[in-house]
Amino acid sequence: MMETLGHAGSRLVRLLPAESAHRVTIQALRAGFGPRVQTDDPRLAVELAGLHFPNPVGLAAGFDKNAEVPDAMLRAGFGFVECGTVTPRPQAGNPKPRLFRLLEEQAVINRMGFNNDGLAVFCDRLRERSGRPGIVGANIGANKDSDDRMEDYAQGMRRVWLHCSYVTVNISSPNTPGLRALQTRGALEELLGGVNEVRAIQTRTHGPRPVFLKVAPDLDEDEVRAIAEVSRASGIDALIVSNTTIDRPQGLRGAAATEAGGLSGRPLMAKSTRLLQEFADALDGAMPLIGVGGIASAADAIAKLEAGARAVQLYTALVWQGPGLVKQIKLGILAWLEAGGRIR
Ligand SMILES: Cc1cc2nc3c(=O)[nH]c(=O)nc-3n(C[C@H](O)[C@H](O)[C@H](O)COP(=O)(O)O)c2cc1C
Repeated sequence: MMETLGHAGSRLVRLLPAESAHRVTIQALRAGFGPRVQTDDPRLAVELAGLHFPNPVGLAAGFDKNAEVPDAMLRAGFGFVECGTVTPRPQAGNPKPRLFRLLEEQAVINRMGFNNDGLAVFCDRLRERSGRPGIVGANIGANKDSDDRMEDYAQGMRRVWLHCSYVTVNISSPNTPGLRALQTRGALEELLGGVNEVRAIQTRTHGPRPVFLKVAPDLDEDEVRAIAEVSRASGIDALIVSNTTIDRPQGLRGAAATEAGGLSGRPLMAKSTRLLQEFADALDGAMPLIGVGGIASAADAIAKLEAGARAVQLYTALVWQGPGLVKQIKLGILAWLEAGGRIR
């Protein structure tokens, strides 16, 4: 469901049902039809968790679940691309339809349910691109029918480690029952304890990788404090704030507004930025933050940077605006930097 193919291509693809449009877009990108942009202005570069990002605008997880087109998306101007979520075994996800556009709101509701090709195929694809430049993260999750979720994450880490620039532990999808319960203090301590054991072994054997944690936007103050404390204590390198919301803002327009699933795009901007600010306050600079949720313009990306993000990610706005948005956002950030704006 992604219209990265230029403006005319975008409009045509949008006539298709959402999920078919996404498939067509991925196939077109695989065939080499994506845009290519020039090298980034060096002033846009940021360092995060020891990685050098040529610009701070990333592609959020879920667009390239199966690591089919990371290089095409880097060529389209993203400073980094997060592939996944990948689960150990392939899984079909929820019954279709499971992806809905809300045109009036420039939003999307999805209940995909981690449909993906599984770790073996994912890692094969990343292995094929090994040696190529560009920051490509691997976002890992648990199978829906797993009876040992910790082991799923451990396997994910072990398998993707050699083939990615960073690993994101995703505990925030609303579409895998029980997954977000891993965000509570006790469960998170246990999970990150396990993550650290695997991390220590992998680091000794294959060298270090940054590990990020991706959280949901539907958290109260106590949950934010607990996640900030536990993540910091366990040495997580950055928090990604946030995934989609199960909230439905009052007056949400569109025939699909009552569909179950996670809401993304414009209606998520204010909520996810507020949460980002809360994490920035709770962490007080102790850990970098990646701001995601509802970015649809340079001003939105700048609002996330001002709230405390060192980098941002987006997905849904591409559906509505196409890939030209990335360049527009980068130009806006550059102008903001020139006017005295500062990335923390
Ligand atoms: C269709 C769709 C699928 C997604 N799949 C994933 C996923 O597999 N893993 C994940 O961590 N986030 C996933 N996301 C969430 C995005 O990465 C992002 O956090 C969220 O959409 C908010 O950003 P946006 O408003 O710019 O889209 C998905 C989002 C959409 C719209």
